[in-house]
Amino acid sequence: MLKIMNIVGARPNFMKIAPLMAEYKKYDTITPILVHTGQHYDQKMSELFFEELGIPKPDINLGIGSGSHAVQTAEIMKAIEPVLLVQKPDVMLVVGDVNSTIACGLVAVKLSIKLVHVEAGLRSFDRTMPEEINRILTDSISDLLFCTEQSGVDNLLREGISANKIHLVGHVMIDTLLNNLKKAESSTIIKDLQNQGVLNSGSFAVLTLHRPSNVDDPAVFSRILDGLEVIQKDIPILFPIHPRTRKNLATGNLAGRVQSMTNLHMMDPIGYLDFLKLLSKSSLVLTDSGGIQEETTVLKIPCLTLRNNTERPVTVEIGTNQLVGNDPEKMIAAYRNLCNGKWREPQIPPLWDGKASGRIVKVILGGMLS
Ligand code: UD1
Repeated sequence: MLKIMNIVGARPNFMKIAPLMAEYKKYDTITPILVHTGQHYDQKMSELFFEELGIPKPDINLGIGSGSHAVQTAEIMKAIEPVLLVQKPDVMLVVGDVNSTIACGLVAVKLSIKLVHVEAGLRSFDRTMPEEINRILTDSISDLLFCTEQSGVDNLLREGISANKIHLVGHVMIDTLLNNLKKAESSTIIKDLQNQGVLNSGSFAVLTLHRPSNVDDPAVFSRILDGLEVIQKDIPILFPIHPRTRKNLATGNLAGRVQSMTNLHMMDPIGYLDFLKLLSKSSLVLTDSGGIQEETTVLKIPCLTLRNNTERPVTVEIGTNQLVGNDPEKMIAAYRNLCNGKWREPQIPPLWDGKASGRIVKVILGGMLS
């Protein structure tokens, strides 16, 4: 029996763990345990995803909640240690790059528990991003590292991680996307928005914004709004809003400005299936999320990423992604190019085929950790 403890904490983790939890069920030699750190806790940021994606209820919820980086990371570490001492898993599996990822990973390796990192090796080379620090540290202590794209493998090798720990397997988040695309078709969100008069039968764009570098400084946020102001005159923009962003709109005195843009529609955070439906039917996505750059690539929807760098270069090299930073001129120019049909035909990255979780579990069981 292999006891695998799986960690989730924040919204993007849920899509990544779902196919692994399903895959474990195929093996009677695996005992999975699911731990939720509670980093995200609102119903629409957490529970809704468990329901929609059929993720089992967490065996343990640490209930940590929000805090500064140090407080959140430290509280997770303090809470996970006694759980590990009682549960004694053989393996801990962490996904992505959030504070829960490094906090739990660090405690596990110090208790000599093998650490598996899914979505390893991604690098933005921007150490002002909290996620970049989390990625570098988690990778450096992991025993097995699963990469979504070749750049991840190259980065890890360059950092001196031995090749036999590294496996290019594709992307568990894309497993979830492909598994749910049909189900998302029956979401009524577009019809509902039409009935509410938010959308007509024409095209629309989707916007997400939550990076501290974009929304914490009102001057930067305001520049992004300059670009959006122009684009929304052409096409309605749907804006499901992250709690951090909503707070910062208020504290930065920017809420009035957004409300004055009649074609920029703020919405509460929405669930996975509704969001997938919106993405898949949109004409354009504007985002500073990491995962959405990848989802739009698979869906072949043009994506303007409101950042100067990406840790997911394959989405720019062969996918639909274009980096425009937070510069309104660049945002508008890229939008105009798109309207003029200047957009190349994208390709799907290798192994983004819905089978990554199967490959991962096979490698874990293949004795690589002993
Ligand atoms: C975290 C991750 C980020 C990920 C994002 C996805 C880190 C360092 N950052 O950022 O990589 O892209 O999640 O959403 O781990 N809040 C709520 N309800 C919630 C959760 C948060 O209201 O359920 C509010 C709190 O006021 C909190 C703020 O949002 O202070 C930020 O939450 P936090 O988890 O600290 O970081 P995110 O910005 O969500």
